[in-house]
Amino acid sequence: MTKIIRRERLVPNIHLLEVEAPEMARRCKPGQFVMLMPDERGERIPLTIADWDAEKGTVSSVFMAVGTSTQKLALLKAGDELPVYAGPLGKPAEIEKFGTVLCAGGCYGIGAIYPIVRALKEAGNTVYTLIDVKANFLMYWEERLKRYSDEFFVSSRDSFFDCKEYIPNVLEKVLQKSKLDRVISIGCTYLMYTCSEATRPKGIKTIVSLNPVMVDGTGMCGACRCTIEGRTKFACVDGPDFDGHAVDWDELFYRRKSYFEDEIRSMCYWEKESLLKE
Ligand SMILES: Cc1cc2nc3c(=O)[nH]c(=O)nc-3n(C[C@H](O)[C@H](O)[C@H](O)COP(=O)(O)OP(=O)(O)OC[C@H]3O[C@@H](n4cnc5c(N)ncnc54)[C@H](O)[C@@H]3O)c2cc1C
Ligand code: FES
Repeated sequence: MTKIIRRERLVPNIHLLEVEAPEMARRCKPGQFVMLMPDERGERIPLTIADWDAEKGTVSSVFMAVGTSTQKLALLKAGDELPVYAGPLGKPAEIEKFGTVLCAGGCYGIGAIYPIVRALKEAGNTVYTLIDVKANFLMYWEERLKRYSDEFFVSSRDSFFDCKEYIPNVLEKVLQKSKLDRVISIGCTYLMYTCSEATRPKGIKTIVSLNPVMVDGTGMCGACRCTIEGRTKFACVDGPDFDGHAVDWDELFYRRKSYFEDEIRSMCYWEKESLLKE
């Protein structure tokens, strides 16, 4: 059992989960993820490690409540326990001195990209951070990210940040003015796809952290199968980071919808059960 130290809402629908995991806190690296179960009847879900504290022995993730498991997780509180919390899993993000790197994140990816921004800055890169939020009240961790960013950009749809555009348009504008050596993008599949398409014409290496459905997270079940440069890869052990220009995006979008009807049924069943218990 893994004890929850903190579970708090950062902005509407996005939560921070901090757990006691001393061994993991000593070993985890930027870009890795954990597999957890919110309760014993649940499924295992992957969440990216958004921060850790080796001294305190804690590991944190930022999650968006989208379906049954993440809604269940959003109801847990400090002191509750998770029956499964396994990791760190996946290959760490490639951290080197690349030159100028732009890190693009949206929704849960704002948290997930934070350790990468920090590590890239510490490795001597010039780091540009580009965050996508639909509206100003959905922004979080701005100060944390700015601490390690040479430039900080926001794409938003409510004009609050002086920008009413989706992330690839802002990325294209940055590309017109600056020479980027690498782009790293984390967030929903569409955000990573559009960032990859924005950099494709200039051939700027773009790394994406893929988020296919995962079951075991250890390369045994095949659920996270993706096609990269025409070859089958398992995102949990070969990734989750891949070259965004080599990903078969159509297949990824299609496979992510495989359990759509079951996910809706599961939410309806869980909500009905929860109402009956009240
Ligand atoms: C390696 C990896 C790392 C991940 N890291 C994180 C993370 O740090 N934080 C996080 O919140 N999620 C992360 N995800 C996605 C997360 O695992 C799923 O959101 C979660 O499994 C959904 O479970 P659920 O039962 O709540 O929803 P489900 O019932 O499984 O899904 C409900 C519906 O929401 C859609 N959906 C699922 N994920 C998202 C999303 N992120 N944005 C919008 N719609 C979505 C699904 O397509 C589905 O239609 C990661 C996925 C992978 C593979
Ligand atoms: S989640 Fe089972 S092989 Fe990757």
